Amino acid sequence: MKNAELKSRKDAATPRGVGVMCDFYAERAENAELWDVEGRRFIDFAAGIAVCNTGHRHPKILAAIRDQLDHFTHTAYQIVPYASYVELAEKINQRAPGDYPKKTAFFTTGAEAVENAIKIARAATGRPGVIAFTGGFHGRTLMGMALTGKVAPYKIGFGPFPSDVFHAPFPNPLHGVTTADSLKAIDALFKADIDPKRVAAIIFEPVQGEGGFYSAPAEFVRALRKLCNEHGILLIADEVQTGFARTGKLFAMHHHDVVPDLMTMAKSLAGGMPLSGVVGRADVMDAAAPGGLGGTYAGNPLAIAAAHAVLDIIDEEKLCERATVLGDRVKAKLIALQGEVPQIADVRGPGGMVAVEFCKAGSTEPDAEFTRRVQTRALERGLLLLVCGVYSNVVRFLFPLTIQDSVFDEAMVILEGVIRDSVAVGV
Ligand SMILES: Cc1ncc(COP(=O)(O)O)c(C=O)c1O
Repeated sequence: MKNAELKSRKDAATPRGVGVMCDFYAERAENAELWDVEGRRFIDFAAGIAVCNTGHRHPKILAAIRDQLDHFTHTAYQIVPYASYVELAEKINQRAPGDYPKKTAFFTTGAEAVENAIKIARAATGRPGVIAFTGGFHGRTLMGMALTGKVAPYKIGFGPFPSDVFHAPFPNPLHGVTTADSLKAIDALFKADIDPKRVAAIIFEPVQGEGGFYSAPAEFVRALRKLCNEHGILLIADEVQTGFARTGKLFAMHHHDVVPDLMTMAKSLAGGMPLSGVVGRADVMDAAAPGGLGGTYAGNPLAIAAAHAVLDIIDEEKLCERATVLGDRVKAKLIALQGEVPQIADVRGPGGMVAVEFCKAGSTEPDAEFTRRVQTRALERGLLLLVCGVYSNVVRFLFPLTIQDSVFDEAMVILEGVIRDSVAVGV
């Protein structure tokens, strides 16, 4: 079946609210490459939105899933438990930041992990309030949307949202928001909107994902930790997008010298299988009463098997180091172009969590038009790129960390070409 026919059937059969970026349909994928139903090849720098850090169809992940298929596919962990869930929790407890006893619970999606982290924080503190940040993205459930600091397209028409959620600006030096500004805004929230003694948690992304790949400055994370300690608030790091070697460490919080109380994870945790989790201080994690956490599919055995393989692959193939090597190569390429491309306002990101921000020449005014041009031309030439940022003016690079050098080099040539061409069109 051809792409055009599938597109018209899709439009008739599925709602427009499930927005779809590409007008071609996947037929198969292998590591960092993807082919559509018409046989066209693409280099995949989207990786299923940061899910395939270990590439498409990694042989070890396939073998782990096949082996699990031969045993059982579903028992509902809360009814009949299985060892692989417990063993994965042990591994995550051991590897998550924080030198204290930890426990982990598994769920299915990133939004579900966020929902449960908030439930746990409320149960542990007996408080309702949550502070999140502008530009943050935490999922499409009602609490996920309430926490998300971007209205279009995530919140339009879907309110009212859960109450007692407040937003402070996330530090963003490029656009004039300093760490001091953010902290002052939280202080203002404590004066104007909610007593800190009623705040259960502060949730933040160590590097904002959908919001534009802005890193939380070290002094900001330290200040959040201090604020939480002062007021008995729990600090939640949402590592759904940053986790599993993307930033050059297993978790982005490993770049910091303070630790969160709770951490959410999903996406690359299971290399393409739906699995998410919340890890945290054992006493905090135990606050919810038995039966309060879980879900029919939470911690599905096939996904858990895949996650064990993902952790092995990250170690065996040294993917944290690889993330940094590849990320540095993208950054070097973009920085070298900066002289000729005045729209390149910033090149940033730890490890392989790299992004380029495009602004109108010589300013910090977002240039969404230029960004769209780069993305569209890249797609025409077979390179799948994702755009992010509150102003849709950031291209993020989410290549599988297992990508072959030859494929990566090919992508770099396409990238350079489309950026140069986009400048030529703009003048
Ligand atoms: C930081 C963060 N939190 C939560 C989510 C929601 O995850 P999911 O789409 O799996 O529900 C995302 C998804 O992009 C994310 O990037």
